[in-house]
Amino acid sequence: MTDLRLLPKVELHLHLEGAAPPEFIRSLAARKKVDLSRIFDERGNYVYTDFPDFLRVYEAACTVLTSPQDFHDLTLAVLEQSASHNVVYSETFLSPDFCGGGDLIAWRDYLAAMEAAAATAESRLGITLRGCITCIRHFGPEQARKIARCAQETAGPFITGFGIAGDEGQFHPSDFVYAFDAAREAGLGLTAHAGEWGGPESVRAALEHLRVSRIGHGVRAIEDDALVAYLAESGIVLEVCPGSNSALGLYPKITAHPIDRLRRKGVLVTVSTDDPPFFHTDMTHEYHALANAFAWQEEDFVQINKTALNAAFCDDQTRTALSKKLEAK
Ligand code: ADE
Ligand code: ZN
Repeated sequence: MTDLRLLPKVELHLHLEGAAPPEFIRSLAARKKVDLSRIFDERGNYVYTDFPDFLRVYEAACTVLTSPQDFHDLTLAVLEQSASHNVVYSETFLSPDFCGGGDLIAWRDYLAAMEAAAATAESRLGITLRGCITCIRHFGPEQARKIARCAQETAGPFITGFGIAGDEGQFHPSDFVYAFDAAREAGLGLTAHAGEWGGPESVRAALEHLRVSRIGHGVRAIEDDALVAYLAESGIVLEVCPGSNSALGLYPKITAHPIDRLRRKGVLVTVSTDDPPFFHTDMTHEYHALANAFAWQEEDFVQINKTALNAAFCDDQTRTALSKKLEAK
């Protein structure tokens, strides 16, 4: 097998703030005189105890990201990391909640800064970024409407999708129908985190109420044969993040992870890192873990990247250009 790092990759599920290197956040905290020592361990890594605590640490880290310049620098740092693993296309979750609280005028400024960084990275490193605006479930449906408005108003060649992340245990997909309908009307591709902490019923509810074409995680669909069959038939794509699921304790070890079983049952799976420094992972690490656990070969990864590119929310011109990059390995 060729060096898995060198394989061109498509990543569909990455949270921009969740990809912030800890040293990046620490240096902003020092500069802004904010004490964030509680979120780092003695080696300087993010530290958390469980999923709710992970969300708290994540949000604490975000408190030092306070300006468009911070998001410009963060975008560049994250794309440099991704490009070093030969990611050629990154669809990244962008959160207006952390960019001025969902205020549209502020959001436009933050977005312009991120787009400028993306243009720099594309010309320097050959990596393409597209943004998927995400609302945060535990911030509630009213706030999600504001975020959907940001998405509606800035939809275009760069902002191509809309999604929902956060605590799956709070609220119900039916509470977010307005936000998703608005995003759909704006022509955005739709995805929802589900079937990570919630069971199959959570995936069903996201599909029924939010009418998404992709599910973030979705792995707990494996607990329901009929749902697995439906996912396979309907071509719903799962954005699977095995390292994230392992680090957060969803599965005790990678060999227990359902990605291989889902794939064998015909479900369209893709591979992403979610929040890589939080989970001590990167795309190359994910691929190595899957190759070791399930004897996946280079052609399996090539197929997964084709699936990811087909499911990407970018325009077809971008998709065609990227497919040439995937072939030119
Ligand atoms: N936000 C960042 N990472 C997340 C995850 N794994 N689940 C839900 N929301 C998230
Ligand atoms: Zn996620």
